Amino acid sequence: MSETTQMPHAAAPLGLLAELTHRCPLHCPYCSNPLELIARQQELSTEQWFSVLDQARDLGVLQVHLSGGEPLARNDLPEIVSHARDLGCYVNLVTSGVGLTTPRLADLVERGIDHVQLSLQGASETSNNAIAGARVFKHKLIAAEAVAEVGVPLTVNTVLHRRNHGEIAELIAMAEQLGAERLELANTQYYGWALRNRTALMPTREQLDAAEPIVREATERLAGRMQIVYVVADYADAHPKPCMHGWGARQLTVAPDGTVLPCPAATAITTLELSSVVDTPLAEIWYSSTSFNAFRGTDWMSEPCRSCPRKETDFGGCRCQAFLLTGDAAATDPVCSLSPNRGLVDDILAEQPAEDPLAGSSIAPVDVELSMRAPTTGR
Ligand code: SF4
Ligand code: FES
Repeated sequence: MSETTQMPHAAAPLGLLAELTHRCPLHCPYCSNPLELIARQQELSTEQWFSVLDQARDLGVLQVHLSGGEPLARNDLPEIVSHARDLGCYVNLVTSGVGLTTPRLADLVERGIDHVQLSLQGASETSNNAIAGARVFKHKLIAAEAVAEVGVPLTVNTVLHRRNHGEIAELIAMAEQLGAERLELANTQYYGWALRNRTALMPTREQLDAAEPIVREATERLAGRMQIVYVVADYADAHPKPCMHGWGARQLTVAPDGTVLPCPAATAITTLELSSVVDTPLAEIWYSSTSFNAFRGTDWMSEPCRSCPRKETDFGGCRCQAFLLTGDAAATDPVCSLSPNRGLVDDILAEQPAEDPLAGSSIAPVDVELSMRAPTTGR
C-alpha cells in the first residue's frame, strides 16, 4: 500500500479505462501500452474485474471503456460487459476488430455494449496491414459490417504518422463507407512505443500543412452525419494539450494487473509511486494516493505555469511528456513556447529526416487467429 496524503477536493471520476489485457494481435509501432507489457498470468481475474467495476461505480464512474491490448482476447469479456451494464454504466468496446463477428457482437450488445471504437491503421489493405504488422484489414471490414448489422454506434480511430498522413482523405472516405458516426484522426503522441519509434513516425511540416484543409473541408461537408475529431501534433504547436483534462480530474485507468493509473501512459513516469486495486480500495487510490495527488490542481506547478493565465486551460500540459523529455514530471510541458525546455522539442523537430527513414524497407505482416482465444502477450 502506498503512502497517502488527504486531498478532499478532488471531484469524482466520470470514466474508467479498463485495460483488460495487454495481449493483442497487432504490432502497431506507436502503441500506447508500456514497453514492459503485463503477461497473461498477471492479469486480474473475472472476479477482480467485477470488484473494480463495483468500486468504480460506487466512486461515481458512469462510462466504462473496455480496452487493451485487445479486450476480445479475454474469454470472460461477455460476463464483464454484463456486470458493467448491471451497474448502469455506459459501455464502450475499444477494439482492433479482430474476432468481432456478427454473432459475437450481437451477444455483447445484448449484454450491454453501447458503442464500438474500431481502430484503422491505414486506408487500404496494404497500408493497414503494413502498419499493424498483421493481416487484419479483412477482419476490420467484418467487424464494421457486424457493427452496422447489429446497429450500434461506431467510432473509427486512426493514429496519424508519417506513413499514413498522406491518406487522410482516403481514411475519411473509408470511415464514411464503414458507417462511422465519429472519426478520430489523432496525430501520434510520443510515449511508450511511439517515443521509441519517434524518428520514423513524425510527420513532416508539409504533411501537417496539407492535412489541415482536407480535415476542415470534410468536417464542414460531413457536419451532422459524421463528426471528425482531429488531434493535433503537439510538438508542432506553441501550446501544450490539456492532457487528461488535468491530472486525476476525470478518468482513471486500471492496467491488466490492477495497477491504477492517473493517465494511461503514467507508467512512463518512473518516479511515480503507483497503487494497485489488488491491495488498496479504488476510492482510497482516487482521493488519497500520492500518484493521483501528485499533479492535481495547480499547487504543484512552478514557473512559468504558476503565474500563467493559461494554467487552468491546459493544466501545464502533459506530465508524461514533461518527464520523458526533461526527467522532471513537474516541469512545464516542453512543447510550451514559454517553457525553458522548448529547445528540446525544437531540436527534435530540426533533426527530423526529410525522407522517410524506413522508405524502401518492408516488414511482412503476419496472419492472425480469428478467434483470438489464446494469443500470447507480445508486440
Ligand atoms: Fe500552459 Fe504552463 Fe505554458 Fe502557461 S506556461 S501555456 S500554463 S504550459
Ligand atoms: Fe500522461 Fe499526458 S499522457 S499526462
